[in-house]
Amino acid sequence: MTLAPTTSAQPPPDPAGHNSGPAQGSPKPDQKTPVLSAQDLSVDLLSPKKGWLKVIHKVSLEVGPQDIVGLIGESGGGKSVFWKALFGLLDSPKWRVSGQAFLQGKLLNYHDEEEGRALRGQSVGIIPQDPMSAFDPVRTILSHFLETAGAHTTLTKNQISQMAESSLAQLYIDNPKRILASYPFQCSGGTLQRVMVAIADLLKPALLVADEPTTSVDVTVRREVLSLLKDSKNQIGSSILLISHDLMAVTSLASEINVMYAGSIIERIPTPALTASQARHPYTIKLIKARPSFSKERLESIPGAPPTLSAGQSGCPFQPRCEKALKPCRHYDLEPKQISPGHEVRCLLVDR
Ligand SMILES: Nc1ncnc2c1ncn2[C@@H]1O[C@H](COP(=O)(O)OP(=O)(O)O)[C@@H](O)[C@H]1O
Ligand SMILES: [Mg+2]
Repeated sequence: MTLAPTTSAQPPPDPAGHNSGPAQGSPKPDQKTPVLSAQDLSVDLLSPKKGWLKVIHKVSLEVGPQDIVGLIGESGGGKSVFWKALFGLLDSPKWRVSGQAFLQGKLLNYHDEEEGRALRGQSVGIIPQDPMSAFDPVRTILSHFLETAGAHTTLTKNQISQMAESSLAQLYIDNPKRILASYPFQCSGGTLQRVMVAIADLLKPALLVADEPTTSVDVTVRREVLSLLKDSKNQIGSSILLISHDLMAVTSLASEINVMYAGSIIERIPTPALTASQARHPYTIKLIKARPSFSKERLESIPGAPPTLSAGQSGCPFQPRCEKALKPCRHYDLEPKQISPGHEVRCLLVDR
């Protein structure tokens, strides 16, 4: 099944009005259907010695039209594996994916690499975690733009170059022509990150997946990247899955935060409620308290380390590090409990 619609040639946008044209790569936005909906998505990884290990455990998550949804959690928790599973980027037979996911209401076939390739770049723009490894070192920056646009549109090379130049200028790149002619190793990490954002944005996708978009950039570029993501939502109408361990970045943009721990969503919370007094899962509260702030002299750290991948553990995955854990926390695999509209938590200690 191919989900990506056929795209006809479009004139390049007015250089001054980047992102202001109609969505190129996406069908007409439907204001009710979620742009992305994952239901009970699980991912296992085959270890030669230990067999199938659980990486993602029954994750359900929705990104509504023109919404920005945050996915946060410590490194190694499964944030990147989650979106890679959705868009056919996990090479079978090492990986096993189950559950269902829909993009704009259409069932995704995450076993189909072809389909994943057709979606990426057109209906889904991906800003990957490590910009340097996302580029082919022997090709110029321009050829990366040409590859993305060439695979999904009939735009000419000149049109694509013009679009690329205006996108880069929009991202405060001083000499876009020079950058387009450069090889990745000739660009700084910050420039490559901006190029990634521009490529992901090029075809005005329905969904942008931004995986740690601010991790490898300095404070000024960080602000620009966040503001570009906001523009993508407001001007193109893209929905965004914003993945980060940078709580400040996520809370500045997202309407809802999903907290992932050891492959499970342990709390889903509307952003305004993401405070130590309103969050309910002990892990979320710890994360909030570990957030850097000018007023804090010392950061609170979370004792212990996340669990290593295992074949299947019962109970709350955070229980070994949780100061409040009781004996039953080791045994009960909980369904999320609703606290209030949009606020759900998986914790035995929370009654309602
Ligand atoms: N290609 C891979 N091969 C083996 N293990 C992997 C691979 N990719 C991810 N993992 C493991 O899957 C788990 C989740 O990783 P990841 O999704 O990258 O975490 P996050 O993005 O939250 O930092 C980690 O234990 C990681 O080591
Ligand atoms: Mg990651």
